[in-house]
Amino acid sequence: MEKQIRSLESKDDRSSFDCGVFSLNEWLQKTAKQHQEKNLSRTFVAIQPGDPHRIAGYYALAATSVETAGMSGKKLPRNVSAVLLARLAVDKNNKGQGLGEYLLMHALDAIVSTAETVGVQCVVVNAVDDDAAGFYKKYGFEPLTEEPLTLFLPVASIPG
Ligand SMILES: CC(C)(COP(=O)(O)OP(=O)(O)OC[C@H]1O[C@@H](n2cnc3c(N)ncnc32)[C@H](O)[C@@H]1OP(=O)(O)O)[C@@H](O)C(=O)NCCC(=O)NCCS
Repeated sequence: MEKQIRSLESKDDRSSFDCGVFSLNEWLQKTAKQHQEKNLSRTFVAIQPGDPHRIAGYYALAATSVETAGMSGKKLPRNVSAVLLARLAVDKNNKGQGLGEYLLMHALDAIVSTAETVGVQCVVVNAVDDDAAGFYKKYGFEPLTEEPLTLFLPVASIPG
């Protein structure tokens, strides 16, 4: 699938996006643009060159901090700075073609670049359900012990 990833634009057709999860559709339709304008999160969309405003998939990033109590590994302060992978979803028509992985790798590349100028210990994601958590575990994310749908990946573990 030929695709490009770029920032969400006003002209993009947010209304026809359907990943099968109501909350993720609704967030793109009603919240993503407002949050972008208020610098609360940044949304990136995957589009195909022949249909440049149909959203095939998207992800959103925001800054956050996370308690380290449930993390295994190195001794860390009680809270560390992190990037929240606030949303990631693929339209039903584009699932199973590698787009979810492509979006995740794009997001992780952006986070590694950010971590070169701002201290960021890890990436955090709140999976919508066990199925979504399975997707993230495939790429090395680990659940927090007390919150199995909150998963994290240390920036140091992101493949270069
Ligand atoms: C989860 C989601 C993003 C996956 O997108 P996708 O484009 O269909 O996934 P890809 O085609 O890139 O799959 C990449 C790999 O992940 C695997 N995978 C996909 N969904 C998975 C899941 N739910 N659990 C475990 N593995 C999964 C695929 O089998 C594939 O592995 P392979 O290369 O070894 O065959 C997509 O199904 C989606 O948008 N779901 C609804 C929203 C959602 O759950 N988002 C997660 C955020 S909470």
